[in-house]
Amino acid sequence: MRCLQLLILALLVPANVSLVNPRQVALKVLSSPKKTNVNVDFLSELKTPSDRNLCTNLIQTANRRSGQIDAIIDRYAEKRPKKLVLAGLKLGITQIHFLSTPPHAAIHETLEALKTFKEISKPQINFVNAVLRAADRGKEGEGEVLGNDVLNLSDFIAGSIESDWGAEVLENVARVYSRHSGGVSLTCRDSVEDFSKELSKREVEHVVGDLGSIYVKNPGSIKRLPGFESGLFWVQDASAALPAIILRNGISQISQNTETPPFVIDVCSAPGGKAMQMGSWGWDVEGVELVEKRAKRMCENIERCKLEKNVKVVVADASQHNFERPPVGFLLDAPCSATGTGRKNVDVMRRQNGAQMEAELIETTKSIWSNCLTWGAKVAVFSTCSLSEAEGEKQVNWILGKGEVRIDMIKEEEVPGFADSIDVRGCLRVFPDDTSPGGRDGFFICRFIFE
Ligand SMILES: C[S@@+](CC[C@H](N)C(=O)[O-])C[C@H]1O[C@@H](n2cnc3c(N)ncnc32)[C@H](O)[C@@H]1O
Repeated sequence: MRCLQLLILALLVPANVSLVNPRQVALKVLSSPKKTNVNVDFLSELKTPSDRNLCTNLIQTANRRSGQIDAIIDRYAEKRPKKLVLAGLKLGITQIHFLSTPPHAAIHETLEALKTFKEISKPQINFVNAVLRAADRGKEGEGEVLGNDVLNLSDFIAGSIESDWGAEVLENVARVYSRHSGGVSLTCRDSVEDFSKELSKREVEHVVGDLGSIYVKNPGSIKRLPGFESGLFWVQDASAALPAIILRNGISQISQNTETPPFVIDVCSAPGGKAMQMGSWGWDVEGVELVEKRAKRMCENIERCKLEKNVKVVVADASQHNFERPPVGFLLDAPCSATGTGRKNVDVMRRQNGAQMEAELIETTKSIWSNCLTWGAKVAVFSTCSLSEAEGEKQVNWILGKGEVRIDMIKEEEVPGFADSIDVRGCLRVFPDDTSPGGRDGFFICRFIFE
C-alpha cells in the first residue's frame, strides 16, 4: 500500500519540483539559534536556484533585521514563544515588513510551512496567525522601529563604533549590515576580463569593481559557480584585496630588481586570500599560520587554484618563527575582532562582549610585529578587518613608537574608488559600504618603510 502511495506521488510530482520548500528550510535554520549564517547543507535540500535564493534571502533578512523584528514581536506577542513558534513569527514579519511579499501570502505560506513540522500544535498555529495579522495591521505605525537599523546591532558593537567614529558612521554601518543581501566578492587567479566574460556566458549576474574584484549578487553555493573546480577564483572582499596591492606598490618603489619574483611573507595567512593573490602575480610567498586546521584549508585552496609553486604554508606561531632568507616585504593581516565583516558574518552584529577578546588580540599582534621586525624586510603592510581604532590607528601609534619604520603614505592613484578613505597620515580606513559596485567590508591598512 505504502509503495503504491509513493508511486502515485511520484507520478503526480514533476521531477523538477522540490518536496522541501524554502520556508520550511528557513524555519529549520531560524529555530536553531546557533545557525545564524546560511548553511550550504541546508540549502542543498532545495533543488532549484530560485528556491535556494529565496531561502537565503529569508534567512539573511531575518538574521540581519533581528533587532527590529524582535521589537515588533515584543509589541504584538504578550510573551516570547520558544524556538519553532518564534521562528514562525520571525519568518512572517521578515516577509511582511522587510521583503515585498504581499501580507496574505506571507502569512499563509508561513503557516503552511509551520504545519509540516509535527511538533507544532493547532493552538500554536493560531497564535502565529493572530500575531502576524496584528503585526500586519499595525505596520503603518512602526516607522520608528523600521527606520532604526541600529536596533540590529548589539549594544556592545553599536557602543564601540559610536565611541570611535560617532553617530553618523554608526548609522551607516548599521544600514549596510542590515541590508546586505548575501552577495560575495571574488578575486580572480588570471584575467579578470576573461573570467567576467565566462560568468556572463553562463548568465551569472556580476559587477567588476574598481580594483578588479568581481561581485556576484546571488552566488547560491560558491562551489557551483563556473571556474570553482578549476581554481579560477577565491572568495575575497574588495577591501581585503587591497593590502596585497598596496604591498606590491611599496615593493615596486624600492626594488630595482624586476627579474626575480619578490620573496614575501604573508603573516597570519589562512584562509589564504592575500597569499594566493600575491602568488597569482608569480611571487614567491611563504604564509605563516598558527592554526593547523586553518592552514590545511588554506593548502586545499592553494591546490585548487594551482598555486602550489608560488605559495608555501608553514604552521607556526608568527611571534616566534624565523626564516632562512630575508623577505623584501611582509604583510601582517592581524588576527582581529573582524567587526568590519558584518556584511558576510551576521554574528558580528550581535556580539555581546568583545572587549576582552580585542585586548588579547591587540597584545598578540604586538608580539607578532616585534618578531616580524627581525626578518630584515624593507617594506611592510599592516592590515585588519576591524572597525576598532584600538586595533588599527592606535596599533600604528604603537608600531611607530617602537621604531625602525616610518609610514609610507598610500596615494590616491594607488586605490581608485577608495581614495576618500585615505586618512591624514596616509593610511586607509575603509568603512563598510554598499554604494560602490558590490560594496565593501570595513578595513584598515597602513604601509611602512624600514628606515
Ligand atoms: C584575519 S585572519 C587572516 C586572513 C588572511 N590573511 C587572508 O587573507 O585570508 C588572521 C589569521 O591569523 C591566525 N593567527 C592568529 N594568531 C597567530 C599567530 N600567533 N601566528 C600565526 N597566525 C596566527 C589566525 O588563525 C587567522 O587564521
